[in-house]
Amino acid sequence: MTTRTLNIKDLELQVKQMYHKVAVQPEGDFHFELGRTVAERIGYPPNYLDAVPAAAVDSFAGVGYFFDLAGIGAGETVLDVGSGSGTDSVIAAGLCGPGGRVIGVDMTDAQIDKASRLAAERGLEQVEFRKGYIERLPVEDAAVDVVISNGVFNLVSDKTAVFGEVARVLRPGGRLALADIVSKSQLPEAVTCDAALWASCIGGAMQIDSYQDAIEAAGMSVETVRHNDRYRFLSDSADDATRKWGVKSISLLARNRP
Ligand SMILES: C[S@@+](CC[C@H](N)C(=O)[O-])C[C@H]1O[C@@H](n2cnc3c(N)ncnc32)[C@H](O)[C@@H]1O
Repeated sequence: MTTRTLNIKDLELQVKQMYHKVAVQPEGDFHFELGRTVAERIGYPPNYLDAVPAAAVDSFAGVGYFFDLAGIGAGETVLDVGSGSGTDSVIAAGLCGPGGRVIGVDMTDAQIDKASRLAAERGLEQVEFRKGYIERLPVEDAAVDVVISNGVFNLVSDKTAVFGEVARVLRPGGRLALADIVSKSQLPEAVTCDAALWASCIGGAMQIDSYQDAIEAAGMSVETVRHNDRYRFLSDSADDATRKWGVKSISLLARNRP
């Protein structure tokens, strides 16, 4: 029997290529839906989306809605982990207001460039985008009230590192509100070792119980888990994975333990 392993460098390259294309050519072909139609279907209120530059919404690649769970208040500091073209960061900026602060972190140049340009054009001085890896967040300890993230953790091979980083930057009692792709059963090696399936948000889907255990082990308590049955993939291979292994979208709220 041969044991396959995921090539981490190849994975990073494929993820960067995929999300470069999402930023610059959102009308292209993808395994997943992009833009305003999917955002509205998964629960984003139209008035939230109206407040975001249309070009950012065109590149929206989120998988679920979580702002109702996040409960972002005026003056809060928000960190958007894997901020993409910035849709969720701009919505968070509206919720925390000019007295709050939003930091978006992403590793893909085209996403950071697009998000930064569009937020600056809107005069959103409370929003800042930093290029970086979420396994080593470029953010100080205990500096953040709310971490948000949409469709990102499944793309990362070292999920323990990422949840550890989230717990490090959250203040005690701070919240993690996310949407992500998980699976009902453990995916087979043929899927988890395929970098192209990872980059499409399928191969890296962690089994749901292990996912929650990893969050708890990092020092956070999971308070809410909600299944998002309105999110769906587009390609046959993705559909197949959904049927065979229960690959699905969830929204989740966790709180950093004091
Ligand atoms: C599915 S997209 C979601 C983007 C955004 N949250 C949204 O809803 O449109 C995933 C994003 O995570 C970023 N990403 C993936 N792995 C990363 C990592 N290890 N470090 C930093 N960014 C990462 C990608 O560049 C991409 O922009």
